[in-house]
Amino acid sequence: MEGTGAMTTGDDRPVLTTRQGHPVYDNQNQRTVGPRGPATLENYHFLEKISHFDRERIPERVVHARGVTAFGYFEAYGTYGGEPIARYTRAKLFQEAGKRTDVALRFSTVIGGRDSAETARDPRGFAIKFYTEDGNWDLVGNNLAVFFIRDAIKFPDVIHALKPDPVTFRQEPARIFDFMSQTPESMHMLVNLFSPRGIPATYRHMQGFGVNTYRWVTADGESRLVKYHWMPKAGVRGLTEEDAAAIQAHDLGHATKDLHEAIERGEYPEWELLVQMMSDDEHPELDFDPLDDTKVWPENDFPALPVGRLVLDRNVSNNFADNEQISFGTGVLVDGLDFSEDKMLIGRTFSYSDTQRYRVGPNYLQLPVNQARNADVRTNQSDGLMMYAVDGRGENPHVNYEPSISGGLREADLDGSPEVGPVINARITRQRIPRTNDYVQAGQRYCLMHQWEKDDLVKNFTANLGQCPRPIQERMVWHLLLVEDDLGLRVGQGLGISAADVSHLEPLPGQQLTEEDQRRLAGLG
Ligand code: HEM
Repeated sequence: MEGTGAMTTGDDRPVLTTRQGHPVYDNQNQRTVGPRGPATLENYHFLEKISHFDRERIPERVVHARGVTAFGYFEAYGTYGGEPIARYTRAKLFQEAGKRTDVALRFSTVIGGRDSAETARDPRGFAIKFYTEDGNWDLVGNNLAVFFIRDAIKFPDVIHALKPDPVTFRQEPARIFDFMSQTPESMHMLVNLFSPRGIPATYRHMQGFGVNTYRWVTADGESRLVKYHWMPKAGVRGLTEEDAAAIQAHDLGHATKDLHEAIERGEYPEWELLVQMMSDDEHPELDFDPLDDTKVWPENDFPALPVGRLVLDRNVSNNFADNEQISFGTGVLVDGLDFSEDKMLIGRTFSYSDTQRYRVGPNYLQLPVNQARNADVRTNQSDGLMMYAVDGRGENPHVNYEPSISGGLREADLDGSPEVGPVINARITRQRIPRTNDYVQAGQRYCLMHQWEKDDLVKNFTANLGQCPRPIQERMVWHLLLVEDDLGLRVGQGLGISAADVSHLEPLPGQQLTEEDQRRLAGLG
């Protein structure tokens, strides 16, 4: 009873215990042979305390390690373009005006580690878990509408190029642009990322995009292709490099702080969900593939129409439990929402739960933040590391298999809804998609920017490419000239490279060029 933490009369604070529920009488001194030691090995409290501490870290996410989570609700409008939304999807969460669904939303940066600066030029993650009555729906998106690559097989490469050098452990523009200059489909993303949108002012001031193409399915089994967009009520604000540097000089976590404090003040951030839609086919009339995540769908032809709003009104009660362990995946869909054949989406759908079984553990879905808390969960899954919940198994708890005539669980009724999905008849192959059209939308994006955004983009490209070897600079200027003359000429000027200097470059192996690309190429000399 010598410990300074020992309970004294009149102190009504709760008593410290071990995880076994034993009161801790001395939290200051190990159990030793005499006051000077040595320690004894049966000292349960000390061993539990130190060995749990030794295991406090789990692997951080391989991407999106730094993030912040908050909770709130999604409220449906019940309509799409003035019509009942049931005409387009049978997903229950969207049906009635005013219907609310609990959500968790995790914002993140991508490349830096768990404690890295939130002022980085980097895409921002925008991942939402909807706890619906039909089970969970995860919509795992980013703040930029497109992505660097269109085939999941390239994801480890693009991330390795963006992550620190394996030798110097510094993020190196020469490695980033080495990869990007050989990857023409990245130009649209780069034009966004190196503009002020590449450093959102805070998490409250950015858009969210599902990026990949999904399907909506009606009660009759009719399907359509959709893309998701989140618009912040607070407006969209980005930072220049100078703004970001000034913030970073005194705060590495300004965006997490901003979100947390806004919610504590009762200023609940809000976004509206808009959906673009097109018929479920290959759309040969378009100059891009609707499943290509390096493209946006023109809003004049495919208007983004509102379907609901999302409000964040509660901070996490524990960062590790709610933010570090939360696990999202693109395969987590509910009835009425479906995948598409988008080659990125399919690769992502494998990757998320694979990494979470490693990062959090095989029973990660039993953790409170990941549980399908508004649906009934009854599986025949058994055991495994840290098994926590025993699923209800009907009247006979002995039956953890199916089929069975002894009770246990049965398959759900299909409710007469036919299964949907494309009929595909094609040779198994490894090929890029037709209609890659890598430059036109990047050029349109540049032309739509305000002058100060264009200037900032040119400055950022020039500063980063200035740190690259000459052949990488030349190839990037070549791409940027194909994106838009003005952009290529201005970046080239900053680097001392003219259009004539790059006119000898041949297209990359296998690269598809449109007639417009050929015309621009011919003009270089
Ligand atoms: C996180 C893989 C593309 C958005 C992750 C994680 C992996 C991953 C392994 C870590 C997950 C975890 O530890 O829980 C991939 C692969 C991709 C891909 C293989 C391409 C094939 C994308 C795209 C987007 C995106 C296109 C945006 C639409 C996110 C977000 C997170 C994330 C927001 C963080 C989720 C969270 O907050 O926990 N991704 N990703 N990813 N990814 Fe991707």
